[in-house]
Order: sequence, then structure tokens, then C-alpha cells
Amino acid sequence: MKDTNPYPLLLKQLQALLAGESNMVTNLSQFASFVYHHLETLNWAGFYLNHRDQHLQLGPYQGSVACTKIPFGKGVCGTAGSAMRSLVVDDVNQYEGHIACDSRSQSELVCPLIVNQQLVGVFDLDSPITARFSETDKIGIESLVQVLIDNTNWGNLVEQVA
Ligand code: SME
Repeated sequence: MKDTNPYPLLLKQLQALLAGESNMVTNLSQFASFVYHHLETLNWAGFYLNHRDQHLQLGPYQGSVACTKIPFGKGVCGTAGSAMRSLVVDDVNQYEGHIACDSRSQSELVCPLIVNQQLVGVFDLDSPITARFSETDKIGIESLVQVLIDNTNWGNLVEQVA
């Protein structure tokens, strides 16, 4: 049923998918593909990673080609990254400073990746449907991101932003 919360099952599937693998690029790639193909009505899902505390740099993703660098404090990603908090935008056309990488995107959910109190990046979801992301999605994506964080060796990335 459409209203059923998909996240408890996704959490188990993700744990199985990432089990025994800790390589960062591998896990980020798997995670982006997993979310993109398991959630409905998305047109983009992927990462922007903290580049030496200077800007967010495009990482592994699924969807159309995207902007490669986002300044901290700019757009939905840079705002969520700087605040180190998840951000749901129901209508990106009403969000001042939204960075339009794909004109199909109408709503957006961005979840920060925080490791040892440091921002290592953000996970960004875009949908062609206005108000696509609910509180359940926000909490669900945060729980999936936590599994990713716990299963991944962030070595160099954590050192370089330290
Ligand atoms: N819309 C984002 C930029 C990234 S793309 O959506 C992939 C933003 O405003 O930060």
C-alpha cells in the first residue's frame, strides 16, 4: 500500500547491502543507487561532499548531470550543510537561493552526513512532485544515512576537514 512506511524494510535491505564493505566511494555509490531505485518519484539522489571546508563538491549520484560545486550557505544543500540539519523544501521555486541543476525538480530533501561532529557532506534528494517529502521521509532518510555513516570508513575525508 502506498501509505505504508517503507523505511523499516529499506533499513534492513540497506544493512544487508552494505555489510562487509566500508570503502567510501563504493558505499556512497551503492547508497545513491539504492535510494534512487527504491523510492518513488525521484529525479535525482546523490551526495555533495565537504571539500576541505571550502565548498561542497559533487559526489556519487543517480540522475542527470549536476552542478559540481556548491558554496556553504548557498542553495538547499549549502544551507543544510552549514546548519548541519536536514532540510525539506516543498516548492523549490519558492525557496530563495535554490540552485536549479535539473529543471524538473520541484521539491527537495537534504540530509547532512555528520561524523565525529564534523560535516563530511550532504545527501540530496530531488523530486518532480511538489511537496513530495514528508516528515516520515525526513526521519527515514536520516535513519538510512546513519546506517551508511556507521558502515563506512571516512578516513581521509574526516582528516581533511579536521
Ligand atoms: N538544488 C540543489 C542543488 C543540487 S541539485 O538539486 C542536484 C540546491 O539548491 O542546493
